[in-house]
Amino acid sequence: MTARKPARGDLPRMKALYCTHWGGYKALEYTDVEAPALRDGCVRIAVHYATITLGQVLVVAGKYQRRPPLPFVPGTEVSGIVSEVAPDVAGFRVGDRVAAMLDWGGFGEEAIATAETVWQVPDAIDLSAACSIPGTYGTAYASLHWRAAIAPGHRVLVFGAAGGVGIPAVEVAAQAGAHVIAVARTPERLALARAHGAHEGILNDTPDIGRAIKARSGGRGVDIAFDPVGGAMFDAALRCVAPEGKIVVIGFASGSVPQIPANLLLVKNIDVIGFNFGLYLGWTPGDERRRFAERLRVLMAALCEGIVAGDFRPVTSATWPLASYIDAFDALVARQTVGRVVLRIRG
Ligand SMILES: NC(=O)c1ccc[n+]([C@@H]2O[C@H](COP(=O)([O-])OP(=O)(O)OC[C@H]3O[C@@H](n4cnc5c(N)ncnc54)[C@H](OP(=O)(O)O)[C@@H]3O)[C@@H](O)[C@H]2O)c1
Repeated sequence: MTARKPARGDLPRMKALYCTHWGGYKALEYTDVEAPALRDGCVRIAVHYATITLGQVLVVAGKYQRRPPLPFVPGTEVSGIVSEVAPDVAGFRVGDRVAAMLDWGGFGEEAIATAETVWQVPDAIDLSAACSIPGTYGTAYASLHWRAAIAPGHRVLVFGAAGGVGIPAVEVAAQAGAHVIAVARTPERLALARAHGAHEGILNDTPDIGRAIKARSGGRGVDIAFDPVGGAMFDAALRCVAPEGKIVVIGFASGSVPQIPANLLLVKNIDVIGFNFGLYLGWTPGDERRRFAERLRVLMAALCEGIVAGDFRPVTSATWPLASYIDAFDALVARQTVGRVVLRIRG
């Protein structure tokens, strides 16, 4: 799948961001590269939109758990139009509107995706919103339903509630009939989380925030804490999770990976649940994307249905043209964005 840079070759060329070394997003090149060649089991997508995430910040710095082979075009979550279908692939036609998860290659005008991780997008969903369905909404939905077994009446705490996976987590929890408590940095960010279904909000710099959340929850605490932040927020979750409650470890936006005191898990009868959406996408060493393809197909259909019904309303902070990628990355790492940061790749 690696797009080759040399001018020779017979594949058409395309605009792309190119990662030649692990220098971070400022070291990416915005350049012309050869379009990737179609492979068996894959479709070619004319990429319209791709999301920029904290995961991508880590990938291009060589700090992510999975390192693509250098040089490569980064970007994993896209939407666009199918432009070519390998002969052994059924279920897709040229012209289909799709969202896809890629191993890499999303920040280029053309991308190749394995058929297991490409999904049809209904006409009612704009492609700019569709690009955040699979990874962003997929993470929120799969972690809360598959791993944490969310149920009506649960009290669910969402850290980073105005962020990329935070807003979908608020919406998914509210749609599941949970009572949602949002945590974010400013009143405006909490207001956004409330507008997406949170019932309460609490600022992340509230003194002794864990104890404060527990006190608000009748002294019992929350049933599920959704944690994409880590650091002090994870410590707060340990303090406020109810007996037999669960903490879902999503990520470490704070940059701090928590250490877990096992004695607290024992004393409080609580579970800490790891969640890596990459498992279902084939990103783990065993590449299990085939095993999970049907489960993901059902998930994606439910997410699209939820968006069409208005239960889920993807938030795009801003859409930057591909050439302005540095501004987009800068805004994300400076915590100036809410929801997803989207790059317009073509169109
Ligand atoms: N496990 C998985 O499968 C999976 C899937 C997707 C994402 N993730 C991970 O989840 C984490 C969040 O991803 P995201 O896409 O939601 O990111 P995001 O859009 O940047 O949101 C992260 C939120 O965390 C809060 N935050 C607290 N401390 C922060 C800090 N020091 N720097 C930046 N943000 C901070 C911010 O909210 P406030 O400013 O309001 O505090 C921000 O809105 C990342 O670590 C990502 O890699 C994991």
